[in-house]
Amino acid sequence: MATCYDFTFARLVAMSPIDAILVGDSAAMVVHGFETTLSATVEMMQTHTAAVARGARGKLIVADMPFLSFRKGIPAAMEAAQSLMTAGAHAVKLEGVTGHEDVVQHLVQSGIPVMGHVGLQPQSVKAYGGYQPRGRQGVEAADIARQARRLEELGVFAVVLECIPAVLAKKITRSLRIPTIGIGAGANCDGQILVLQDMLGLNTSFHPRFARTFLKAESTVVEALAAYDSAVKAGTFPAEDESYH
Ligand code: KIV
Repeated sequence: MATCYDFTFARLVAMSPIDAILVGDSAAMVVHGFETTLSATVEMMQTHTAAVARGARGKLIVADMPFLSFRKGIPAAMEAAQSLMTAGAHAVKLEGVTGHEDVVQHLVQSGIPVMGHVGLQPQSVKAYGGYQPRGRQGVEAADIARQARRLEELGVFAVVLECIPAVLAKKITRSLRIPTIGIGAGANCDGQILVLQDMLGLNTSFHPRFARTFLKAESTVVEALAAYDSAVKAGTFPAEDESYH
């Protein structure tokens, strides 16, 4: 899986063999420049989901339920899920399970495919005090494994494992029947996900250990912009055949 937030990139992801797209609430950081995902709103996620759905026909599209949208009770969660599904998502993803099991169950029983997300939950960054990996100690590791099992029991169709030790991710993956999708969780998950802009190397100022860059797009794009700028300033763009006569 890869994340995606807009029509242009959705077209490109749709041309690739990548199986599924996550319209992540990381949009708040990657697209809108906020410091955390806490600034994502249902309206923001709805707009990005609709744009991706227009560009990536034929791919499974999962949309993130943003911060607190699933913590205000079942009716509010249903409204949020409806906004995302009618915008073109095929499934929704939400972080954690403790304290909102009823919401997960209600969504699943309403026919909405739900993806879980355990380990590092970026929407809880203020509680953690940072983005350090989770589950390095026994008690926390056991709790992450328990949450993943509970999500499976509640009927989610897959679960993201974020920033946990590879050995824990392997154990969880082996213990579940549903697929695990890892990010910073080692090679033994059933699938992997990366933020598109990270894997394309579009922002070299952010480079977490797990985010391999498969392209150096930042320098490529800046070089293209500089070439355009020089051509305009040198008077070589637009040329005769780029002008109407
Ligand atoms: O919002 C997001 O990009 C995510 C991935 C990191 C899994 O939730």
